[in-house]
Amino acid sequence: MSQAAQRSGTFVWSLNDPTLLRTQAYIDGKWVDADSGETFPVYNPATHEVVAEVASVGAGETRRAIEAAEAARHAWAARSARERSDVLKKWNDLMLENLEDLAVIMTVEQGKILAESRGEVAYAASFIEWFAEEGKRVYGDVIPLAQTDRRGIVIKQPVGVCAAITPWNFPSAMLTRKAAPGLAVGCAMVCKPPQETPLSMTALAELAHRAGLPAGLLNVLPTSKASAVGDEMCSNPTVRKLTFTGSTGVGKLLTRQCADTMKRLSMELGGNAPVIVFEDADLDLAAAGAAAAKYRNSGQTCICANRIIVQDTIYDEFVEKLAALVGTYKVGSGLDESVTHGPVITRKALEDIKGLVDDAVERGATVVAGGDFGEGDSHLIEPTILCNVTDDMRVFNEEIFGPVAPIFKFSTEEEAIAMANDTEFGLASYLYSNDQGRCWRVAEAIDFGLVGVNETMISSELIPFGGVKESGVGREGSRYGIEEYLELKYICMGHLGQ
Ligand code: SIN
Repeated sequence: MSQAAQRSGTFVWSLNDPTLLRTQAYIDGKWVDADSGETFPVYNPATHEVVAEVASVGAGETRRAIEAAEAARHAWAARSARERSDVLKKWNDLMLENLEDLAVIMTVEQGKILAESRGEVAYAASFIEWFAEEGKRVYGDVIPLAQTDRRGIVIKQPVGVCAAITPWNFPSAMLTRKAAPGLAVGCAMVCKPPQETPLSMTALAELAHRAGLPAGLLNVLPTSKASAVGDEMCSNPTVRKLTFTGSTGVGKLLTRQCADTMKRLSMELGGNAPVIVFEDADLDLAAAGAAAAKYRNSGQTCICANRIIVQDTIYDEFVEKLAALVGTYKVGSGLDESVTHGPVITRKALEDIKGLVDDAVERGATVVAGGDFGEGDSHLIEPTILCNVTDDMRVFNEEIFGPVAPIFKFSTEEEAIAMANDTEFGLASYLYSNDQGRCWRVAEAIDFGLVGVNETMISSELIPFGGVKESGVGREGSRYGIEEYLELKYICMGHLGQ
């Protein structure tokens, strides 16, 4: 360990390569301070200690990053897909070589346990590896036209400069899920990390630099003035696409702001995922799946189980099984390898989650496990289960984004489908049943972009991730995800003399 150990509460952390801890902005291949000299603190959510002071850039630096991206993108797009792929593969390799350091940085700024951080770094790298290959398979079409002396050709070209705004719950994977397909096809990226967790993104930019990614193609703009950077990204006509992961409210605002320059949009927004458990399900499997979907990342994923909807005949048995699993959990600092669940991101987030639980309890819900929200600066919430919940409570309609599992009751298949669909969101959904006919029927009847049948761990670089309704537009990952960074161009070759 070459760096002096740093203290995080009772946990000491250090990096094998301390130069991965970057606290400046990365613009046109250079590490720079904010023009104003301003910085903002990044906190460890487990201890509320300051991890680092990071440069806080504004509109001027954002404009310069966009100009650098525009200047760099043409030469990059003119390279062969194989050459671009070689650079991306080197980036992927460096991420895997530095996995432990990247995981420590993530845990210290985001709070998730080290095992989950390691998993996320590998998941983030998998998008780079996948799109490095997929970039070689951007094919066009030849259209058989009515005129015999003409040929119709469709080619695919990079969209151009793309802006990316990413969330704090997956600080690395949400960058690579956006930047890797863009870079693979010849776009240039201008990226804003979240204020809470900028250090994972700056570390990845450092590795992209070392991998030989030319200057200007990946720019990273940390800031505590999100609207200054966001407004410039949305209004600048050089930016041809905006890709965003975050809340539906902010997604709608950005969509409106991008309308004037008619940008391409990818929006991965909020969710309100149901987990439907039928009486014919394997209940041990269902309880384990629901627990994983609910409490992963302490309930802070867009695809977290938000409403567990259980058939009345097996309700009590299911609650017992889920409570037994929750009873084995240990909350604390993510750096403690014996901890299973870390803190939520801020005290404000904790207060919001508590507000949802208080509302449910006031309306008649009962807390059957957990329910302790700590005190003072702590962001630790005991994994919680709520029973006797009904659809007039806020927990039915709002995204909880914390480790609280409300368990609703249904009696018929039709009622379960209606309850699942009774939301403006449509990202992830899950169902448990051993009746194959029912699995197909229900999977086809529920209005969500992702359906897990007898499975809740459904994410990977290989699948089209995205939602319907107010959960967003577009898909990320998979062979479909690359299309979001490509424009179609029709070329008519006339008078061929035949
Ligand atoms: C998200 O919560 O937005 C991403 C979750 C995932 O990729 O599994």
